[in-house]
Amino acid sequence: MIDMYILAIESSCDETAASVIKGNPATGRLLVLSNVISSQIEIHKKYGGVVPEIAAREHVLNVLPVINEALAKAKIKAKQLDYLAVTKGPGLITSLITGLETVRALSFAWEKPIIEVNHLNGHMYSNFIKPASPIKFPALSLIVSGGHTMLIILNKDHKIKIIGDTRDDAAGEAYDKAAKMMGLDYPGGPAIAKYAAEYKKSKKISTITLPRPMLNSADFDFSFSGLKTALLYQLQKDKNWRKRISEYCYAYQEAIIDILSYKTIKAAKQYSIKTIMMAGGVSANLELRQKLAKNIKKELPNTNFLVPDHEYTTDNAAMISAAAFYKIKKSKAISFRNLKVNSSLQLK
Ligand code: KG4
Ligand code: ZN
Repeated sequence: MIDMYILAIESSCDETAASVIKGNPATGRLLVLSNVISSQIEIHKKYGGVVPEIAAREHVLNVLPVINEALAKAKIKAKQLDYLAVTKGPGLITSLITGLETVRALSFAWEKPIIEVNHLNGHMYSNFIKPASPIKFPALSLIVSGGHTMLIILNKDHKIKIIGDTRDDAAGEAYDKAAKMMGLDYPGGPAIAKYAAEYKKSKKISTITLPRPMLNSADFDFSFSGLKTALLYQLQKDKNWRKRISEYCYAYQEAIIDILSYKTIKAAKQYSIKTIMMAGGVSANLELRQKLAKNIKKELPNTNFLVPDHEYTTDNAAMISAAAFYKIKKSKAISFRNLKVNSSLQLK
């Protein structure tokens, strides 16, 4: 079977992204030809978080230049594309709409079919881009993003089963809200990680103790809002907290990592998992990557552990095109060269 080319657009939050991939459905080989991201972080930073109206306006301004750049970098002409892919949600509706409407217009103009992709599915498939070792099934995906903390089992037919979900604040949200409480920059993850690394380097022993909510619950769900509140109470009680920011960041990050690591390994044992994959913005965190890798090696030495390259951790469109590729590949009945134009395909 010949190669197929997919152009994907991602606009679910504050990144406008486009990517072209080349994939071979017969061999499963997938190559990212371009991955262009226009981030609005600098714009939203001064408000301490994403302002939906501003994000919406920026997406409208950026979407076509980003698509043109993705095509140019991939050295692919629109007529060579086989599919268009787009994030359908979850996300900010006012942001998603730009990607969806743009793809709809391009589908009409270029006569290409559309593959809609769930954003979280996209994060999961970021692990299928250049995996460091083969993905063996059943695989367990730990998704840690700004809005979600999930544990998902993926079987060899690429069917999914959600075994753990966010009860309240997600891991990324826990980072962002704690950073805001301590007057640190948005996004909170990299800011807290930086201070935590400074404290770790000092080799001091922290005296701050924070809870590990739901660590021993019978399910695999996550809850981080109690941890955030516990931090708030400790800051309120400590007149000198500003002088101890790096220690607070360290203790807070340790609590998040402990919970993520413990529950992931427990789930992997219970479901006889062969590969653990981590994805989403928080998976960029170096300490989390290292601790989880170390714990998996110790407790599950026969289980592979995969993390995406840094550029595929936070929101990007390469992961959306990768998810679209597997959606197409799974649907064996479809002759991908002869699809009807202007149909929004649901390849479930
Ligand atoms: O996946 P993502 O880009 O967007 C969503 O789908 O939500 O994740 C964004 C989240 C933010 O909460 C941000 O603080 C967090 O990822 N993040 C990090 C790091 N880099 C980004 N959290 C911890 N450590 C990091 N290095
Ligand atoms: Zn995301």
